[in-house]
Amino acid sequence: MEHPFFQNHFLILGHRGVPGEAPENTLASFRAARQQGADGIELDIRQCKSGELIVMHDARLNRTTSGRGFVRAKTLQQLKTLRITGGNGQERIPTLEEVFREFIGDLVLNVEIKGYPRRADGLEKKLIALVRRYNAVNRVIVSSFNPIPLRRIRKLDPEIATAFLVDRNFFIHRTEKAIMKLAGIHAIHLEASLATLPFVTHLREMGLHVLVWGDIPFERIPELKAMPLDGIITDYPQQVRQMLEGLQP
Ligand code: G3P
Ligand code: MG
Repeated sequence: MEHPFFQNHFLILGHRGVPGEAPENTLASFRAARQQGADGIELDIRQCKSGELIVMHDARLNRTTSGRGFVRAKTLQQLKTLRITGGNGQERIPTLEEVFREFIGDLVLNVEIKGYPRRADGLEKKLIALVRRYNAVNRVIVSSFNPIPLRRIRKLDPEIATAFLVDRNFFIHRTEKAIMKLAGIHAIHLEASLATLPFVTHLREMGLHVLVWGDIPFERIPELKAMPLDGIITDYPQQVRQMLEGLQP
């Protein structure tokens, strides 16, 4: 489905910011994406115990912070005492609101919902409220591997762009069934090894926008550029931008 988030040009989004420049999913990493000329960033969100939406990939704190245990078992106050591993040691776990406040004027945001409670826990409502408060319907796309939060978003606020994430664990022939069930979503975010010209063309003909993500060898950039894609989610926004510019006629 057409949506103003897609601006008629090939979008380059920094995956968790630019994780090679600063720790993933931190304000420093998002600043690096802005500085490298990315159109936007992809980031992962979860809800913590005190109810705020925070930016974190894993369910547990162990890999990326000085803390231990589950994000959902900690309050924001507890989370803010933790240091992010790597970088200059100064980064803290950002809230989604902090990201909106600093970046929504400069970057589009792909907010990926992690953590899949069966029963609604208010995450989607809070996310929608934030998008509305920042008047950012044209600047945000919400994605997930799980169709349930996407359906909730669609029901609550159908104007917000939604994308279903597809990876190699998800059989391609199941993708279409899922898309049908999810009728009303705007895009598929496809793991790049699944991106072939016929498949991407087929998805576009179904009226879906398509972005690719994952471990993408630079040699594939020209081939991907030739597909009817809407963009790429990459750890290397600057290099991808340079390669794409090199391909301009
Ligand atoms: O949104 C694309 C990508 O971020 C999905 O995988 O594990 O990096 O969140 P992951
Ligand atoms: Mg992600």
